[in-house]
Amino acid sequence: MSKKTIRDIDVNGKKVLVRCDFNVPQDKETGAITDNRRIKSALPTIQYLIDNNAKVILCSHLGRPKGEVNEKYSLKIVADELSRLLGKEVKLAKDIVGDSAKELVSQMKNGDVVLLENVRFDAREEKNDRELSKELASLAEIYVNDAFGTAHRAHSSTAGVAEFLPAVSGFLIEKEIRFLGDALQNPERPFVAILGGAKVSDKIAVIEKLIEKVDKLLIGGGMSFTFLKAQGHNIGKSICEEDKLDLARELLEKAKAKGVEIVLPIDSNITTDYSNDTENKIVHSQNIPDGWEGLDIGPDTIAKFKEILKTAKTVMWNGPLGVCEFSKYETGTKEIATQLGNIDAVTIIGGGDSAAAIEKLGLADKMTHISTGGGASLEFLEGKQLPGIECLQDK
Ligand code: 3PG
Repeated sequence: MSKKTIRDIDVNGKKVLVRCDFNVPQDKETGAITDNRRIKSALPTIQYLIDNNAKVILCSHLGRPKGEVNEKYSLKIVADELSRLLGKEVKLAKDIVGDSAKELVSQMKNGDVVLLENVRFDAREEKNDRELSKELASLAEIYVNDAFGTAHRAHSSTAGVAEFLPAVSGFLIEKEIRFLGDALQNPERPFVAILGGAKVSDKIAVIEKLIEKVDKLLIGGGMSFTFLKAQGHNIGKSICEEDKLDLARELLEKAKAKGVEIVLPIDSNITTDYSNDTENKIVHSQNIPDGWEGLDIGPDTIAKFKEILKTAKTVMWNGPLGVCEFSKYETGTKEIATQLGNIDAVTIIGGGDSAAAIEKLGLADKMTHISTGGGASLEFLEGKQLPGIECLQDK
């Protein structure tokens, strides 16, 4: 069932509380925002509300301050960046539902934008505390959730508040549901999924779901070694989840029964230590020598994956194919990202590391959709109901 959006209600002159996901990556030393994609993704909703004479009250979390005020996680940097991007002042309240927030809200004129301080400075937020939800709701007349990245959390500002106000979705959540949902429901074929990342255990439910839908599933990254070992190959000291070997075998069997080809690496870029500085070489993935570990897919695998992607019409990618923080082992991820930018297909990138890789390569504009959700996009793809979406009014 689809959810009502801000298009479906009258926001003119109304105080609208908008939950965004401004949980942006920050420079460890300076605290500066290193990637403003999540802020930019919220702009269509904010701009629409401004243009339609609403009083826009924004809220978000940043980091995990564990229910305590911590300047390190203040949304001041977000207020500054928003002011710059919107070309108008965004005032930051000193608190969430306290005197400062109430005073700023009471002074708002139509089209003004106020940002509340980090909702996770209040320990009640993550407990989905009803009192906090009520206090948040009392600031506004309408609630809009546009925090897709946090939609898998049932917190006061992401779900609880919807009990007390008319609740609809913003344009970002609408867009995420459209792309991630349609890709699974109605993909143009061939539909190819690429999965990477370190652990099979993080992706089991997604793999199970994808096996039902895709034509081919390409697996790279650390998780590929659990599958290779499950097939009886020698993976040296590559990362492996020993307790997931049976499960990996089951998944391979299931895929076979469905006629879905799971494509594992055929060669790997290996080294002796988890480091950018030790000797490396390319070997066959089915025979990695003892004492060596695979940190990236090799050139033959890259060529094979690229060939498969050439004819794909829908591609969904989640998780890096190698250890991208080491320059020697980012080649696979880079090459596949570049290929995605060159093919004529709907390309959907799950959030987190694969999105960051695409962004770093300057290929973001070439993708059909880059999700702003890490955990949320995985849970959505698993078919789970996300509390931040469930709580919104049906159309
Ligand atoms: C994220 O970055 O995945 C979201 O902002 C949620 O953050 P959390 O994992 O701290 O709840």
